[in-house]
Amino acid sequence: MLIPNVASLFVSFLLPLYATTSAAASQNALGLIEAQPDLTLITALIKRDPELVKLYSTVKNATIVAAIDSSFSSIDPNNLLYSNKAALRAILQDIVIRGLYPTSRITKKPIYPSTELTDTRLVDTSRGRAVAKLVEIDGKKTVDVGAGSRANITQGNLRFTGGILHKVSNGLDTPLSFSSIAATLNITSISQLPPSFVVAFRLITSARDTTLFAISNEAYEALLASQPDATFLQFVDTLGYYVVTPGVYFEKDFTGKSVKTLNGSKLKLSGFGTGTVKANDAVVVRSDIFATNGVVHILDRPLNPLRY
Ligand SMILES: *[C@@H]1O[C@H](CO)[C@@H](O)[C@H](O)[C@H]1NC(C)=O
Ligand SMILES: *[C@@H]1O[C@H](CO)[C@@H](O)[C@H](O)[C@H]1NC(C)=O
Ligand SMILES: *[C@@H]1O[C@H](CO)[C@@H](O)[C@H](O)[C@H]1NC(C)=O
Ligand SMILES: *[C@@H]1O[C@H](CO)[C@@H](O)[C@H](O)[C@H]1NC(C)=O
Repeated sequence: MLIPNVASLFVSFLLPLYATTSAAASQNALGLIEAQPDLTLITALIKRDPELVKLYSTVKNATIVAAIDSSFSSIDPNNLLYSNKAALRAILQDIVIRGLYPTSRITKKPIYPSTELTDTRLVDTSRGRAVAKLVEIDGKKTVDVGAGSRANITQGNLRFTGGILHKVSNGLDTPLSFSSIAATLNITSISQLPPSFVVAFRLITSARDTTLFAISNEAYEALLASQPDATFLQFVDTLGYYVVTPGVYFEKDFTGKSVKTLNGSKLKLSGFGTGTVKANDAVVVRSDIFATNGVVHILDRPLNPLRY
């Protein structure tokens, strides 16, 4: 009795294994995605755009992070996103990450590979490509490719010819302008600027390869309470210390280096690897929000110049 049982177990174990292996060897990314019962929405979105069909049929040496059907809580055909072909194409290019990143390569130390998104309306950095952030947080393997939309990998390491597919918990977005990020994430120090300051903000922060520090809503409220009537010139002077350009500094770059801000004074970026990264003595409460021309970090307090 024992022997046949073990044998059949063994056979039934081997069969699916062989099936998967041989399928993987001849299946492109689109074929693999199409074969997943929980990726029907993303399949449909890819298939109605010939450029995406081409990308997903031929891409190699890539890691794709696809949101499962249940994460599209309401596919509303009237939602602008689903009728906006360019925006959808951008997202579906941005979830194709260059290089092979099985979950075993996603550790507590974040890595920042490039993605297949190169549309210059959304990517204006000298890198020429959007960036993904892969990092393990609280034991979860996470991925982020846009302006603050992190997803957990819920099923990882499916193989297609030359690449890897991870299923993720929720949809991701693309980089956005600083103003759109502020509106989307409700960063009031930017989104609630007096109209007369908005143009200055755009001019000062619009250069290619910019790192912008924004303060949290709580810190902004405290600041407003202490300085209720900031003048335009004070605003412009202050903003200069929150902008580094040219220079895109991700969390991984907070290694104790000093960077020159737009107003000429230096800012010390530190703490990488300790669990808390800082700009001078301000703690970054949210890092790596990818913007079209750089990156935003949110601080828990206004920046105070360090004494050197
Ligand atoms: C795969 O992609 C990575 C990241 O772009 C690159 O460094 C590597 O050279 C590529 N490998 C091959 C075999 O093309
Ligand atoms: C991802 O995992 C974290 C940690 O378990 C959890 O707090 C978060 O809600 C998850 N996010 C999603 C979108 O499922
Ligand atoms: C945005 O943040 C402010 C300040 O924290 C809060 O009063 C407001 O309700 C928030 N708005 C939205 C839409 O979440
Ligand atoms: C830059 O801004 C900081 C903070 O407002 C200020 O203390 C510093 O003096 C400014 N530097 C220059 C060179 O104006």
